[in-house]
Formats: sequence, C-alpha cells, structure tokens
Amino acid sequence: MNKTAMAIPTDISARAQELRKQINDHNYRYYVLDDPEIPDAEYDRLFRELQALEEQYPALVKPDSPTQRVGAEPLKAFGEVKHVVPMLSLGNAFSDEEVRDFGRRVAEKLGLAEDEIDFTAEPKLDGLAISLLYEDGVLVRAATRGDGVTGEDVTQNVRTIPSVPLRLLRAVAQRPLPRVLEVRGEVYMPKAGFEALNERQRAAGEKPFANPRNAAAGSLRQLDPKVTASRPLAMFCYGVGQVEDGQLPDRHSAILAQLKDWGLRVCPEIHTVRGIDACLDYYRDIGERRAGLPYEIDGVVYKVDRIDQQETLGFVSRAPRWAIAHKFPAQEALTRLLAIDIQVGRTGAITPVARLEPVEVGGVTVTNATLHNQDEIARRDLRVGDTVVVYRAGDVIPKVGSVVLSHRPPDAKPFVMPTHCPVCGSDIVRLEGQAIARCSGGLFCPAQRKEAIKHFASRRAMDIEGLGEKLVEQLVDRELVHDPADLYALTVEQVASLERIAQKSAENLIAALEKSKATSLGRFLFALGIREVGETTAQSLAQYFGDLQPIEEADLETLQSVPDVGPIVANSIYTFFRQAHNLDVIDKLIAAGIHWPKVEVKAPEVLPLAGKVIVLTGTLESMSRPEAKKHLQALGAKVTGSVSKKTDWVIAGEAAGSKLKKAQELGVEVLDEAGLLNLLQ
Ligand code: IVH
Repeated sequence: MNKTAMAIPTDISARAQELRKQINDHNYRYYVLDDPEIPDAEYDRLFRELQALEEQYPALVKPDSPTQRVGAEPLKAFGEVKHVVPMLSLGNAFSDEEVRDFGRRVAEKLGLAEDEIDFTAEPKLDGLAISLLYEDGVLVRAATRGDGVTGEDVTQNVRTIPSVPLRLLRAVAQRPLPRVLEVRGEVYMPKAGFEALNERQRAAGEKPFANPRNAAAGSLRQLDPKVTASRPLAMFCYGVGQVEDGQLPDRHSAILAQLKDWGLRVCPEIHTVRGIDACLDYYRDIGERRAGLPYEIDGVVYKVDRIDQQETLGFVSRAPRWAIAHKFPAQEALTRLLAIDIQVGRTGAITPVARLEPVEVGGVTVTNATLHNQDEIARRDLRVGDTVVVYRAGDVIPKVGSVVLSHRPPDAKPFVMPTHCPVCGSDIVRLEGQAIARCSGGLFCPAQRKEAIKHFASRRAMDIEGLGEKLVEQLVDRELVHDPADLYALTVEQVASLERIAQKSAENLIAALEKSKATSLGRFLFALGIREVGETTAQSLAQYFGDLQPIEEADLETLQSVPDVGPIVANSIYTFFRQAHNLDVIDKLIAAGIHWPKVEVKAPEVLPLAGKVIVLTGTLESMSRPEAKKHLQALGAKVTGSVSKKTDWVIAGEAAGSKLKKAQELGVEVLDEAGLLNLLQ
C-alpha cells in the first residue's frame, strides 16, 4: 500500500487540522495585525510539527496548508488571466486646484454640495496592483493588472507572500463569504526589507534595485517562486473586483473593514473624511509623515465612499469618475551633468561636486549635488555630459542616481581626479586606504584659508559678529588676510574699502574683533581648527591642562590621558603644535591681545591616584573601559593606551592580549578586575 492511500488515523488528521488553524492564526496576527502572540521559536515548532505530519501522510497536504506557500516548481512562463471586471487605473491630480475640480465634478453629477460627500482618503502605495481570487474562501488565483483586461498568472509567487491569506477567516466575520470574491490591492516591499535586500544584492556582487517598487515588481515576476519567497514582500488590499453569490456592504470603507475581518491586510492609514478640504488636510498630514512610514507612497487616493454614489458617477475611458490620485511632487527627475567641480574643505578634503542643469525635484530646484569621492564616481562611471537621475530621498539633500547610458554622448570622458589643487596648485594627496583625497597646501591654500578663517570667526569659536562668508572671501581674495591673526591688524578704513561694506559696518566689525579678544581657552583651541578637535575635545584639553603652553608641550602619551582623546586625536594635536607656521599664528594672535583666564585644574597631588600611570586592557565585567578610565582619572590617575616602563599598573580584564604580555615582559604590576575595584575604593 502506498503512503498516499494509507489511511490517516483520525487523531493525526485532527492534530494536523489543529496545527493548520493555529499556524494560520499566528500568521494572521503576525503579518496582518502586526501583533504576534507567541515567540518565533514556538511558531517554528508548530510549523515543523505540521511539516513532519504532512511528510508522513502526504494525503494531509492541502493547497491552503501554511506549509504550501513555498515549494512550487519554477514556471516556464506565466499564464494569462482575463479579468472578469477590468482593472482600471486612476486619473491624476497634481495640485489642490485639480483636486477641487474633481470635487466639483463629483458634487455636480451627484446633485449634492461638495461638503455633503464622504470620501475615503488612502495612501497611494508604490508597488504593483494584484488581484486575488478566492473561491469558497480559498485563494485559487493571483494575477497582475497587465493592461487592465489581461494580466499574468502569478499565483505561485503571490502564495509566498506571508500577508496574503491562503484561506479567508470566517469565524470572526458576521457576513457570509461570497462564493467568489476577487480582492484587489498593492503588493509592495517595505523600506526596511528593500534596504536589506539591496545590502544582500551588493554583498553578492549583484545589481541593487533602484527603488522598492522595482524591487517588488522584479520579485513578483520571477519564474521560480523560491526567489519570490526570499524577498520581503507584503500586500495591502484596497478594493474588490468580481463578487458572486454574496453581498458586500454599501460603503467602500465598510467593505475594507469587512476585508479586514476576513483576514486580509488593509492599510491602517485609510480614513473616511467629509468634503474636499478634509481630503487636502489628509494629503498634507500624510505628506509630512511620509518619510517615517515603513513603506513608500507616491501620493494619496480619494474615493467616493458610498457605493451607490460610485455607481451613479461611473467611469470615463479607463478610470472611475469617483476616485482620483493626488500625487506628491516627483522626487526624481532627469537632467544633464554639466561638470564635475572640485571643492576644497577647511581640512583640505577634496570633494567632487556635480554641476547640473537646473531641474525641479520635489518642488526644489537642484543645481549641485555632492559626489562624495573619486571611487564613487568611478564605481558608477559618471561622465560629464551624461544624463542622470537626480532624486531626493525623503526631504534630504539631492543625490545623483543612475546614468541613462543610452543618452551618453560619444565624446563623454571618464572623470579624472586632478593631481593639483584647483585653488592653490599644491599636490593633491590620497593616503593609502583612505577614500578622501586632500590638498596638501594647508593654510597656503586660499580655499582652506577661507574655511579656516570662517571657522575661527564662527559663533562657537571666537564669535566675531559680522564676519560672514562674503566678507571673509573678499578679505582673503584681496590679500588683506592670510591667517586668522591678520584679522586683528585690520583697520576700519581697510574694511570700509571693501565692496558693499558701509562705514558703520566696518566700525562694528573692528569693535567685534576687539571684543573677541577676551575669550576662553576652550574656544581658542576649538577656533584653531586642529583636525579631529571639536568643541568637546577642546573643552577637555582646556580642563585637563589649564593653559596653552602645557598642551603645546605635551607628548603623545600625556595627550592620550585626556578624557575622550584616543591615539588618532592625540596624534593630530601633537602634529599641529609641531608645525612652525601654526606656532607663528598662535604667537601673532597672543601678541594681538587674545587672552583667556587660566583654567582651575584640580591639584593632582591631593588625589589618591595622582601621578599613577595606568593602562586598561581586555574586557571588564562591572563597567566599560571608558567608564573605568573616567573613574581612574577622577582619582588623579593618568590612563594611557600603551604599556611602557613608566606604567605603574596594567589592569587586565577578560581576554587581554598583547598589552598584558608586554606588562609581563617589562615586569609591570598587573591587576585583575577585583584589583581595579579595590583601587577605585
Ligand atoms: S484604487 C479604480 N487605491 O494606483 C481604482 N489604487 O493609478 C483602481 N494604487 O493600479 C485602484 N494605492 O496599483 C487604488 N489605495 C489605492 C492605491 C492604488 C496604489 C495603485 C494601483 C493602481 C494605480 C492606479
């Protein structure tokens, strides 16, 4: 007797049925309601139990079993599906005015005032339209929209989408299920899933998808359902098509609520509103929240809610008169890459910038976009003259997307990074392993000089009121100012001689410069623009050393014992104070009268660990290493990063490595975590 024909013991078939029910319930809670009830591991256990039973008794396998979502064999081609009720498209509105026109047309045709009409306002989901056909509650077919009349049979693929029920729920529903029910909605890829998928594509050396819509469409049109199953797809239902032997509610909003009760997933952002003003309020509200939604939307859809009113309104050509899509301004546009310019930052960082033929993207005119670095340009093979996609993701800075290769002019040449700074002619250097190239000109480079002076004058640095960008440009271009110290030699006459500067502004600037001379050590250090030294580090240095001279003289080890200063920052500070031109500028600044009160440093002698040099290594259990460092420093200890003969103690946590070995070699005393806690007490 073969297995299929083998009689199934009643307790087994009852158990299988029970498992199917439980798994379907959990699927529904997890994928449709977003409200899981049991841990994933428990779900997996139920699933495996059902799989095992079905393997043992193949006759138990039913098409609507939750185990049957994946596993179908690849297709040679998709079959055709004729839509009994055509799948229409929507008319578009791009402005409030066009939406008001729609409202007026609807009101007129219904013979009502516009504020007497209920609409549903729904997100316009950015995926692809799919029709699901349920017969006696079982999913028997899924199809794409195609041309609206004939679509493709994608049943095997749609069955792999977890939020699509293979069987509708009856228990919770009041209304009997129609024998035939065609549900329509959008299959889409959530933003997070899209990012993760592209991450995987890149890791596998495959081309990432341009956007979630393409990714969703590409994933669904796979001949092998296993590929679809591996893609994070979801579906929201927003309407019905063919209905036989059954009755649906008389409002669109009530139909959606009914679909939800049958276990179908409906977007929670759908609202019923009265009148066109409320529709426009909805548009603005969801527009503001758009970036935070977990899925892409490209507009909203307004639909007349009452089905009898929909029927009165009817259709024009291929779109209903009772609905309209109100689109968000395009977030993407095509334009030409006119040039790739080089920008030089305060620290000499070279950034290639795309100069674009001005184009409107999402309501803003875009003319420039940063291209990050040389590798990025090479990777995407961007060439001057290319037609490119410019897009804005959310509300952020515009980016250059893909190149339209078919539009590439024959003479377009690949970008070559200049070898010399376009501003000062110094060599451009790019260190091994770094993405960023830099101009080596330092303060000799006017671009870096301008940026350095702007930074010096900025509010959180020397706070020189009235010394704005335009003024700095003029001062540097006219060679009145070469370095920050030259600012203090400026006269009212010199400043007043610049373009668009009134006598009064010149006087104000000189007064502001005078006022800025009384500063704090922290501000002064920050103003110097030492690479890697932000406001906080500058404050820490001031606090730790109390005055400028000890900082200038500090060795690397001492610098590293300052809170928040690691080897890279220490190195940058150390190098800065070893450059003669930097010391000259500092001397000039002090000679010009810049001064600050000495910072009170706690006398280290009175602290219990004063003068002790400690190295931390390995993993501590009771606190993190930075925490331990802070505690030890509070007690006056110097905490450094490398073990030397000067080290008093090495504190070794779990898995300590080379530093512990070094301590043992040098005969430095090693403490364990208990020893550390002891010290701290
Ligand atoms: S209703 C007759 N509602 O937009 C009504 N469509 O341009 C037909 N879409 O093909 C569709 N979100 O793919 C409707 N909430 C929504 C929608 C929506 C996205 C898509 C759908 C349709 C296209 C029409």
